[in-house]
Amino acid sequence: MKNFLRYAYLKGKMIPFNDANISVATHALHYGTAAFGGMRGIVKDKNVTLFRIREHAHRLSQSARLLLYEISPEKIEDTIKEFVLINRPNTDFYIRPLIYTSSLEFSPRLHDLEKDFLIYGVEFGDYLKSEGVTCCFSSWIRQQDSSVPLRGKISGSYITSCLAKSEAVERGFDEAILMNSRGKVAEGSAMNIFIVKSGRLITPSINEDILEGITRDSIIVIARDLGVPVEERPIDRSELLLADEVFLSGTAAKVVGVNKIENYTFKGERLIFNKIKDIFAGLLAGEDSRYDKWITRVSI
Ligand SMILES: Cc1ncc(COP(=O)(O)O)c(C=O)c1O
Repeated sequence: MKNFLRYAYLKGKMIPFNDANISVATHALHYGTAAFGGMRGIVKDKNVTLFRIREHAHRLSQSARLLLYEISPEKIEDTIKEFVLINRPNTDFYIRPLIYTSSLEFSPRLHDLEKDFLIYGVEFGDYLKSEGVTCCFSSWIRQQDSSVPLRGKISGSYITSCLAKSEAVERGFDEAILMNSRGKVAEGSAMNIFIVKSGRLITPSINEDILEGITRDSIIVIARDLGVPVEERPIDRSELLLADEVFLSGTAAKVVGVNKIENYTFKGERLIFNKIKDIFAGLLAGEDSRYDKWITRVSI
């Protein structure tokens, strides 16, 4: 059993985690009609540092709209802060807010159904190995925006991530790289992807059927601040394999290097990745005043 934070938020109330349960007939459980967020909370000296809470709350509010549910980013942000306050965590954790279709109905639709907003938290360290990962090309193709709205973190769409991740692990790799339906590089199972070629940082653009990652956006800003040219455009499979550096980014994954893809090993120096990784680690902990605008501190 994981170490869940003591209180969860359900049906408008903060209640003990063990009492925060929902019915077996919940619509979201059967049809994936939910949308989630994910944020890290870093605990230090009676303070919890939250990274880019505004952007996380905004993305979840937009995801909710795709489920025909209106909830303001302010409501999400305020509830997350209240959740942190009541839990007073003493170690780093992950916050999982979820908008879900709570009606006990069995018709696959979105209209005329009740929705609810819940939050729980769990103690959390590294999701991927900090020394870097190995990846395979997934046999599963990233969905296209015309079949699943990919700008939202819609729960049902994560079956593709689950299939890709398990296939990768069964094949002896840590992670999967999914191509999009046009045969270009999309992303990892729950992380965006970057390559470096001849001093330029390149990542698939937001029209390549990726999730618009908040870490991805932060890395683009950091790279530009470092004077590194950034290109957002389609990436070919062979371009990825011949890159000087490859890395993944995400709230859970943070910024993690890719050591190998299939039978191609990356042995170079990783100058740009190392700089970005160090800056990102500092700002996530709220220790880099240049990026203070991205930090919210809750004193506990
Ligand atoms: C499919 C997918 N891509 C990319 C990301 C990275 O997004 P972020 O940096 O906002 O966590 C995530 C993580 O939430 C994800 O689930």
